[in-house]
Amino acid sequence: MSQLLDLVDLDNALQQQSPQEILEFAIKQHGNIAISFSGAEDVVLVDMAHKIDPDIEVFCLDTGRLHAETYQFIETVRNHYNIYIDVVSPDGQAVRELVQEKGLFSFYQDNHQECCGIRKIAPLRTKLHELEAWITGQRRDQSPGTRAQIPVIQDDRVFARPNGSLTKYNPLANWTSQQVWDYIRSNDVPYNALHDRGFVSIGCEPCTRPIGPGQHEREGRWWWEEATKKECGLHSTNIKS
Ligand code: ADX
Ligand code: SF4
Repeated sequence: MSQLLDLVDLDNALQQQSPQEILEFAIKQHGNIAISFSGAEDVVLVDMAHKIDPDIEVFCLDTGRLHAETYQFIETVRNHYNIYIDVVSPDGQAVRELVQEKGLFSFYQDNHQECCGIRKIAPLRTKLHELEAWITGQRRDQSPGTRAQIPVIQDDRVFARPNGSLTKYNPLANWTSQQVWDYIRSNDVPYNALHDRGFVSIGCEPCTRPIGPGQHEREGRWWWEEATKKECGLHSTNIKS
């Protein structure tokens, strides 16, 4: 209980800090920490962390369904920063069974949870069992339905090893999309070419579409589903039951 209170105090303190200060704190706290990089605008985390620790670990969940542009972008980031990116694949047999049983687009019929479970969540769990802490690019302004309350630091009980602990950092929680893009432009940070074609929030190719003027970025993801359910399970702590 007191540990939980400490974390709340710490979160209150970190809420006042810049993303760079939060990253610096996180990197100092944990020897074994990695950035969860989606190939979209959270590349700013890679840029900031690389300036603090050029050996920062970065991983990306390769669902097998990303856009060609996203794969190219991951490669661009790898070369630009001269870093190793752990590109994590799903279990081949599990994917094969899903596709044999339900085809390649089952998520349009029975929602995205099953496919995301196999292609993202199971590999993420395996990856996170190697780590003490992980860093994500989640922001409060990304989803009024599910992310309005996300803390900067949290105890991740969903993905922690049995009897282990896992800390999750969201250094961009209080940044707006505008701040992220100002940072990208003023620091010459590379970005996914899809952003120049109307894509804002980018996930897998069949589950992502560009948005029009006035639409919220989340409307381009899993558009056939209800707004409050639009989390793939990576951040399931965001969904209130
Ligand atoms: S999702 O849960 O809806 O897919 P979103 O695309 O908003 O997530 O991204 C939020 C954060 O989740 C990203 O900033 C990144 O840290 C992490 N993330 C999302 N997709 C991936 C991925 N394919 N690989 C690694 N991290 C990811
Ligand atoms: Fe499958 Fe779509 Fe989830 Fe990607 S986002 S893992 S394609 S359901």
